[in-house]
Amino acid sequence: MSITLAPSILSANFGEMSEEIQRVFEAGASWIHLDIMDGVFVPNLTFGPVALKSFRKPKGCVFDAHLMVVNPERHIEAFVEAGADIITVHAETTSHLHRLVQQIKACGVKASVALTPATPLNVLDWIYLDLDMILLMSVNPGWGGQSFISAIYQKIEALTQLLHDRGRSIPIQVDGGVNRQTIRKIVAAGASNLVTGSAVFGQASSTMEYRANLQALLQEAELGLVDRNRVI
Ligand code: DX5
Ligand code: ZN
Repeated sequence: MSITLAPSILSANFGEMSEEIQRVFEAGASWIHLDIMDGVFVPNLTFGPVALKSFRKPKGCVFDAHLMVVNPERHIEAFVEAGADIITVHAETTSHLHRLVQQIKACGVKASVALTPATPLNVLDWIYLDLDMILLMSVNPGWGGQSFISAIYQKIEALTQLLHDRGRSIPIQVDGGVNRQTIRKIVAAGASNLVTGSAVFGQASSTMEYRANLQALLQEAELGLVDRNRVI
């Protein structure tokens, strides 16, 4: 599976979001990760579908919406209408994960489920077949710029093995603390879709700087792919 980097605009300049998206897309990112926080499931608040709708989506760009909200079933259609191409919901936010996943798919977009660091993989046991992606959080959701929780390397390995055993070939996305120091080991453990907020936007503000950051991350990620194949 090839590597996808999904820059999180949580660390971008909110005053010029459409321009930021355009710059990071031109810099080589085909996915844009959108962190939707409601101040209830997570302490922080970001934006909703109305703001999302105002962001210009470059042609060919994937809008990857990560919903950190309670009652996500109330908002799916609005986020699809606003431009989301894949919607990730947290298993911890619903009593009816199967129904919620079907609701997302019925809207014609891809469905993914996220687990916070403490949530065990077995909540996915009966829903693997329905998912297009699985997101493992490697920080407690709420803010950008936190440190990767090292226990998650093992969780990625365990999920990789599980998917392999079940013959499911869907990407594992990892979100939180992905940077030049951690990405190689994250990819070696089996993840292929990496959310990167501060490691891409950080102090940078131009297409050139974003491109340099993305390329440096990609280079380390490719080494991780080599490590992974060596193990197998
Ligand atoms: C955290 C968000 C992440 C965050 C990642 O709750 O889901 O997407 O923006 O930021 P970094 O890459 O800086 O850890
Ligand atoms: Zn996220």
